[in-house]
Amino acid sequence: MNIEITFSAPSQIDTPLLVLPWCQGRERQAERPSREFDALDEALGLTLTRAVAGGDFRGQRGETLLLYRRGESGPDRVLLVGVGERADLSPERLREVGGHAASRARELRLTEICLSPAPAWPAGPLELELAVRAMVEGVVLGQWRFEELRSEPDEEARRPPLVSLGVLVMDAGVRDEAATGGAELGRVLAAAQNYARELAIRPSNIVNPRYLAGEAQRLGEEFGFKVTVLDRGKIEKEGLVAMLAVAAGSDEEPRFIVMEYGRAEGVQPLVLVGKGVTFDAGGLSLKTPENMEKMKYDMSGAAAVLGAMRAIAELQLNVNVVGLIPAVENLPSGHAMRPGDVIGSHSRKTIEVVNTDAEGRLILADALNYAARYEPEAMVDIATLTGACIVALGHQAIGLMGNDQELVDELRVAGDRSGERAWQLPLWEEYREQMKSEVADIKNSGGRPAGTITAAIFLSEFVGSMPWAHLDIAGTAWAEKAGPYQPVGPTGAGVRLLCEWVRGRAS
Ligand code: BES
Ligand code: MN
Ligand code: ZN
Repeated sequence: MNIEITFSAPSQIDTPLLVLPWCQGRERQAERPSREFDALDEALGLTLTRAVAGGDFRGQRGETLLLYRRGESGPDRVLLVGVGERADLSPERLREVGGHAASRARELRLTEICLSPAPAWPAGPLELELAVRAMVEGVVLGQWRFEELRSEPDEEARRPPLVSLGVLVMDAGVRDEAATGGAELGRVLAAAQNYARELAIRPSNIVNPRYLAGEAQRLGEEFGFKVTVLDRGKIEKEGLVAMLAVAAGSDEEPRFIVMEYGRAEGVQPLVLVGKGVTFDAGGLSLKTPENMEKMKYDMSGAAAVLGAMRAIAELQLNVNVVGLIPAVENLPSGHAMRPGDVIGSHSRKTIEVVNTDAEGRLILADALNYAARYEPEAMVDIATLTGACIVALGHQAIGLMGNDQELVDELRVAGDRSGERAWQLPLWEEYREQMKSEVADIKNSGGRPAGTITAAIFLSEFVGSMPWAHLDIAGTAWAEKAGPYQPVGPTGAGVRLLCEWVRGRAS
């Protein structure tokens, strides 16, 4: 899809569809947009005024109104998308407008549309960048569909994709750069997020640990970063034995993926670690059949790290980043680890495996401990780690925990800015009690109470003194309900948040 910034009045622009956000309360004289909109209204035969003044269209969040041109020139159609009260206006609302634009374009079979943040967003250059970025993200994310495994494309898939997106900015000049930069950022981030969605929705008989390693290598070549893949022999040599214990039940070969992106010499890297369980049956502590098919998305943390590495490299951020992905499959078999087994780990701590379904923390513990060799400036892991996170925060927020409050605060802010909200849970030392084992240094499950916290407590035992934070995306990686830019299915959660955080650290 080609994205172009245009400077023009909305009544002048020649496009099959112009999409505009619309604030509630616009019927009040003081809230009316500029004269440029009177000209647009004129081209639409004053239907805009009538719809708004008559109260048919109020601009509530998600409300839409499609109008057709009457005059000689101007856009063929105008789609108004309500964004609610001006005071509540946020990039997220504009991302939703982008999503509505994408789905309406698809319904109308248009391959070319134009949108503008202008009527809702009057402020300076920085805000313009954020606004354009959010709308472009919404369009690119809203466009995404997964059709590759149907033998015949269905009706929906036969509709043509968007080839051209125009971003209309009303007054040129200083704002040129803000709009261009915002559009580019939005495009790169949303494309990386769509890529993460695609990895998560592909089934486990396609996406296995070897497949993830292949994807990392492909991305490294295309976007320019170094990729090293450890096979079983090398994983053994490195002493990642907790990871191997999880892999033991599966015939799929495990892989440990190391991605190194770097520009600055002699600067300690940021480390991103993603849980890559390509299928989680629970192992011998077998899950029940309902929803087990969903556990193909238990590699969403890995997908987020792959997506983030891709975007970071494409944006050529001036920063050093290492991405680590322990990739395994968690299945029951005659070779699988048993509940009660005591296993070793990269840190040499012994672990009593009381529940083989608490496998994510085992592979992450090894990967986080492995990361010490980079002496990271900070390290963030991301994982579909606990069902308890869904109980605690639902599908609205990423669980956020860590051993360094400044880092945790940075991630919360990055979450707010990127529209992927994260909410902190405490790691008070009293929770450690739940992880004590009768026979080993630690056990891998603390039972039902505070399951998200105790999982993070477990991880904290393997990070030593490195600044570390943990993102639990169990509730946000898969959408059960469709949203304006999100169909039911994988969300690509964490890509935008991680990139926002890394961007904040880049010089
Ligand atoms: N992958 C699951 C967590 C999960 C559950 C993610 C539902 C997304 C949706 C994880 O490996 C797991 O099984 N966790 C257990 C831990 C328990 C055994 C201590 C859980 O949450 O039940
Ligand atoms: Mn599990
Ligand atoms: Zn899992």
